[in-house]
Amino acid sequence: MSQSNALARYHGKAALVTGGLGAMGLAIGRRLTEEGAEVYLADVTTEDGGRIAEAYAGLVQPHVLQLDVTSAESWSAAMASILATSGGLHLLINNAGVITPVPQPIADVPLEEFHRVLKVNLDGVLLGTQAALKVMKRGVGAAIVNLGSLAAYTGSADNGTYGVSKGAVRALTKHSALSAARNGHDVRINVVHPGYVWTPLVAAKAAGQFGSEPAARDAFSKMNPSGRIVEPSDVAAAIAFLGSQDARMIHGADLVIDGGRLIQ
Ligand SMILES: NC(=O)c1ccc[n+]([C@@H]2O[C@H](COP(=O)([O-])OP(=O)(O)OC[C@H]3O[C@@H](n4cnc5c(N)ncnc54)[C@H](O)[C@@H]3O)[C@@H](O)[C@H]2O)c1
Repeated sequence: MSQSNALARYHGKAALVTGGLGAMGLAIGRRLTEEGAEVYLADVTTEDGGRIAEAYAGLVQPHVLQLDVTSAESWSAAMASILATSGGLHLLINNAGVITPVPQPIADVPLEEFHRVLKVNLDGVLLGTQAALKVMKRGVGAAIVNLGSLAAYTGSADNGTYGVSKGAVRALTKHSALSAARNGHDVRINVVHPGYVWTPLVAAKAAGQFGSEPAARDAFSKMNPSGRIVEPSDVAAAIAFLGSQDARMIHGADLVIDGGRLIQ
């Protein structure tokens, strides 16, 4: 266990991370593992190309599950598999997400593309929340953390569909947090909103835009008042806090992780 993660808030707890083989999913799962959780990484495909071994070097290896977050049947099967192995689920991170791969202004976006993004980013969170609330027990400190985005707060000239989906996740978090608390579920639900996170995908795209990766990193860092860029581990640390008993009185909250970008 690394020095910074010596909290061990998740000993004896099982955590499911959707989109678990993506850059953020791996970092979130890693952080939870370092804090003692039994981690399940779930993704549409379980082909990881060696990324898990790299991300979890020296750590307890995670379970890997096939899960399509847009399918209720797939959620049922994933939950059954987790309950059979771990006997319970304490933490769900609704991290799976997609984006329109090319600039696509709202004025022209085809309805099929709009629905494709909403299906994963919004339906996926709804189905995950419903599936988790069915199996999470009272009195065990259960929690759900959703992945929003700074795009939930701002407009976008060429990628509004993604922003719409994340704005909806923000609203869904508040409604589901209240609904859970008022309807007998002892499960806290919150949402994190990262700004640009320096993942390999973001880095590759930015390098194309700014000529090289170091130039892109420099430019992205300067966009944030802090002068620093958000790393996947920053998002993972915030999620580990929100999911833990340190946040036991925090329900339906937005936690922005952006190096100060939104406040400028
Ligand atoms: N990277 C950023 O800058 C950034 C910023 C803000 C928010 N986010 C959000 O963080 C989350 C993770 O982003 P990332 O950068 O790791 O992206 P990523 O593309 O690396 O990972 C997303 C993962 O979700 C999986 N996925 C897609 N559809 C799925 C489905 N139907 N069922 C299960 N899994 C599915 C993909 O296979 C992939 O592994 C997303 O919700 C994203 O919107 C990312």
